[in-house]
Amino acid sequence: MKEWPEHGGNPLKIMKRYDMGEKKVMDFSANLNPLGPPPDLSLAAAFRTLDVYPDPDYRSEVQELADALLVEPDMIRLTNGGAEAIFLVAHLFAGKSALIIEPAFSEYARACEAYQIDVTRLNLKEDFGFPVQEVLTAIPQTDLLFLCRPNNPTGTIIPIDPLIQMLEEAEKSEVTVVVDEAFVHFLPLEEQNILPLMERFPNLIILRSLTKIYAVPGLRLGYIVAQPEQIKRVAGVQIPWSVNGVVASLLPDLLARTDYIHKTRRFVQEERERLVISLHELGFTVSPSVSNFYLLKDASAANSDPLFVYLVKNGIIPRHTHTFSGLEGTYIRLAVRKKEENDRLLEVLAAWKGQ
Ligand SMILES: Cc1ncc(COP(=O)(O)O)c(C=O)c1O
Repeated sequence: MKEWPEHGGNPLKIMKRYDMGEKKVMDFSANLNPLGPPPDLSLAAAFRTLDVYPDPDYRSEVQELADALLVEPDMIRLTNGGAEAIFLVAHLFAGKSALIIEPAFSEYARACEAYQIDVTRLNLKEDFGFPVQEVLTAIPQTDLLFLCRPNNPTGTIIPIDPLIQMLEEAEKSEVTVVVDEAFVHFLPLEEQNILPLMERFPNLIILRSLTKIYAVPGLRLGYIVAQPEQIKRVAGVQIPWSVNGVVASLLPDLLARTDYIHKTRRFVQEERERLVISLHELGFTVSPSVSNFYLLKDASAANSDPLFVYLVKNGIIPRHTHTFSGLEGTYIRLAVRKKEENDRLLEVLAAWKGQ
């Protein structure tokens, strides 16, 4: 049996697995902004920074970010994508213990393994609701709690009130809570800004990525927001110039694209709502996502592999869920794509149901 790719966004590997040759396909496996990267990014200007070492602390870029987020610059560290942010936080907790609520992004567990962190896992409820009471009970036994909001792969969120309850419990027990907000920009506005909670909860660390909202996985740009003493510790273990200067210099341009973010959010929210209505009409089970991707299964099938293969053979690449603890292939994950692509998906899914 050929191995499943660890992440989405690898359509070539999937096509090879099913001997699909070079056929043109639609990639629903990567959760990126369906509108693509913002137009006319200042790439030429960025490349003019090629011949100088970047400031190891990226002070001017961090200041711009701090102004945009309304936090102090000493609370921010730029990282090589959200992935590096996860590994840096894990580094700070080497040899300790962590709690992960599955299914969640697989890099939390990988980072814990890399830093000998002892992992305890709890599962989301059957309907993907968050197991607040179970987590509250488990918090005093851990050092670090990983939360993903909105959660990859379900697209669901922990409502603010239980999040605050968990932060309070964690503070009492001297536990650090990491909230990975890689997909935060896709959320309805009222669910977005938990940054003000940092004043009340010094045990909160927020991770962000520019990858998803700007559809720039090739750039590798993310950041950590934490208390200044934690940021100093992160800086102490981070590889020098980990974010390359060309990419760092693009940050101000990206931050200025607020209209693009609003446009994307409106588009994704409307398109997801439209899709979910049609998917329910077709008889599929869909996770109650508020983000730019969702889990789907045919309620009448025990396992989603036949549906996965059917979609691939019809030129649609979903994300398998064999590498998500607690899912093990029962669902597939699909990104909200452009309207024409989503229409094609609905057409193929209707054909699957009609077989
Ligand atoms: C929840 C979550 N966090 C972080 C990342 C990593 O993002 P980046 O590509 O910026 O490293 C991903 C990527 O899939 C993700 O799903």
